[in-house]
Amino acid sequence: MNILILGSGGREHALAWAVMQNPKCDRLVVAPGNAGIAAIADCADLDILNGIAVVSFCEERSIDFVIIGPEAPLAAGVADDLRNAGFKVFGPSAAAAQLEASKAFTKEICDAAQAPTAAYGHFTDAASALAYVAAQGAPIVIKADGLAAGKGVIIAMTDAEAQAAVETMFDGAFGDAGAEVVIEEFMEGEEASFFVLCDGEDVLPIGTAQDHKRVGDGDTGPNTGGMGAYSPAPVLSDAIAERALAEIVRPTMAEMARRGMPYQGVLYVGLMIKDGAPRLVEYNVRFGDPECQVLMMRLGAQAFDLMQACAEGRLAEMQVNWAEDHAISVVMAANGYPGSYAKGSVIGGLDAVPEDSANMVFHAGTGRSGGDIVATGGRVLNVTARGASLAEAQARAYAMVDQIDWADGFCRRDIGWRAL
Ligand code: AMP
Ligand code: GLY
Repeated sequence: MNILILGSGGREHALAWAVMQNPKCDRLVVAPGNAGIAAIADCADLDILNGIAVVSFCEERSIDFVIIGPEAPLAAGVADDLRNAGFKVFGPSAAAAQLEASKAFTKEICDAAQAPTAAYGHFTDAASALAYVAAQGAPIVIKADGLAAGKGVIIAMTDAEAQAAVETMFDGAFGDAGAEVVIEEFMEGEEASFFVLCDGEDVLPIGTAQDHKRVGDGDTGPNTGGMGAYSPAPVLSDAIAERALAEIVRPTMAEMARRGMPYQGVLYVGLMIKDGAPRLVEYNVRFGDPECQVLMMRLGAQAFDLMQACAEGRLAEMQVNWAEDHAISVVMAANGYPGSYAKGSVIGGLDAVPEDSANMVFHAGTGRSGGDIVATGGRVLNVTARGASLAEAQARAYAMVDQIDWADGFCRRDIGWRAL
């Protein structure tokens, strides 16, 4: 098969790495890709938000199957355009992608499905939002309704912070994404992510993970897109996963089907776990980044069979072949991230790092300059390893980190600490 993956981050490098190992893959193209992906697949320049351009690309290149990595093309309806043109696609329709693209939509679905989640109010003007904040009091969580690249959530620990957050959002700090605001009860507990494939009818769990959002060791400092992840997440026990499926995921999927927008693709179920009970924090309509890197390292080549069955409505006949293993991914970021950082610094030592089924450096933000690999983003490399235990995986990952020669980058030294 000729397979196309849309996206350019570490998530897409990990997807490409898993797909390449599957004997069904004759040719793999990633658009736009990055320098690491270019070492294992063809990269192509393509406006991945333009469904018409993606469809003509697939026709020209005789593509048989498309995997959509990030949320933006999903919300823009690229999966719909491809399906309408007769292509097999892994990824939800624009209507179903509202589970990530609109927080108010998700809360309404949770109400209809009676899925446990934070109590909330939904507002389109500052005055009523401020009145709600005054009535509820801090701590409270203020969220821009739309896609805001992970930055549209403010956890206000005081009433003054909450008021300021409401005012900033209605003043347009997040553009259209903040024209509507959801205000939520602050939930306590431990967060973990649950990944399931859904084909519109059936649901198949494919793994659990936890990420580290703060930039500094010990979970300190500002929030980031994620500084590392590990899988499985011990806090998400089999019993809690069963409850999450029964109380949250299956009722949501049934409600989506009932509304004529069946969900097909991977569903990222962000959970808050307290006293043995899961509550929904958020849905994302894609794999997490860097959670995908640890999931792909554990699933390997079967990941493509699962995605294909998902796109073809055959999940009921599939099962995941689990190894009793653990995986960890350490993010190496440019000095200064998540604040301002320089681009273009040279990364050395990558040739000496092992690449096999237990060791892989996925590229998140790299390019080529002459013969060198250079940093082109904030999060740059995802140093990922697998082991029989989390401690073994962690030791392997940091041994790789220590072989990489990049003075302009840094990483956390404690990824996985919560589970160790
Ligand atoms: P979201 O984009 O909705 O996932 O929010 C980003 C992060 O904010 C989550 O991963 C949580 O760490 C935190 N968060 C969001 N909503 C809540 C809530 N209601 N209570 C506590 N923390 C939350
Ligand atoms: N690592 C968090 C996310 O992908 O949304």
